[in-house]
Amino acid sequence: MKNILLKNGENIIVRCLQKDDAGLLANYLTALSVESKSRFGPHPFDRSTVEQICKRIDDDDIIRYVALHNDNIISYMLVKHGLIEWDAIRLGEEQQFFDYGCTATFAPSVLDAWQNSGLGTAMFQVILDDLRRKKYKQVLLWGGVQAGNKRAVHFYEKHGFKRIGSFWHDGKDNHDMVLDL
Ligand SMILES: CC(C)(COP(=O)(O)OP(=O)(O)OC[C@H]1O[C@@H](n2cnc3c(N)ncnc32)[C@H](O)[C@@H]1OP(=O)(O)O)[C@@H](O)C(=O)NCCC(=O)NCCS
Repeated sequence: MKNILLKNGENIIVRCLQKDDAGLLANYLTALSVESKSRFGPHPFDRSTVEQICKRIDDDDIIRYVALHNDNIISYMLVKHGLIEWDAIRLGEEQQFFDYGCTATFAPSVLDAWQNSGLGTAMFQVILDDLRRKKYKQVLLWGGVQAGNKRAVHFYEKHGFKRIGSFWHDGKDNHDMVLDL
């Protein structure tokens, strides 16, 4: 567990999702705007999926970081060991191969009212420290990033991610990006 101080003076707790967090996570996912949901979709957001995730948290190959303010989740970020299958196939077709042993796949989200507050950056610093300590060498984006998601593209570039390809999905242009640690 880590305490972070945002530039607006708010104190936030960052920790991993726990078994008894299903209610809090369901509230968070329900509160995300339609726009944010259209950009962040690593899994279905219905209550039974969230309950299964929390129940099986000890056997997960995904570390799920949450940020809390006044006991509510205000950010949820996933770090999966290796690659998701969809990304591995698409990147493989482009002759881009990654070592599962030292690659992580990243999917971030911040509650709309907290976007642009520096929370995403502060949480990513916590995550980067963990990834480096665990000897990961590369971080990929989970399903890429929509090219039109300017804030997210800026966020990734600011943190050193580089574009390694583009693909068309659901009528939208997307970028694959990678960060070398
Ligand atoms: C992407 C996301 C995780 C970033 O978290 P955040 O807390 O908003 O990020 P930060 O406040 O740390 O940084 C945002 C940066 O984007 C910049 N930004 C904001 N709007 C922007 C825009 N329209 N175009 C370019 N940059 C923009 C901010 O100025 C800031 O950059 P700076 O630190 O250089 O000033 C968050 O906005 C989010 O959850 N978005 C919706 C879901 C999503 O898109 N997830 C990613 C899917 S690939």
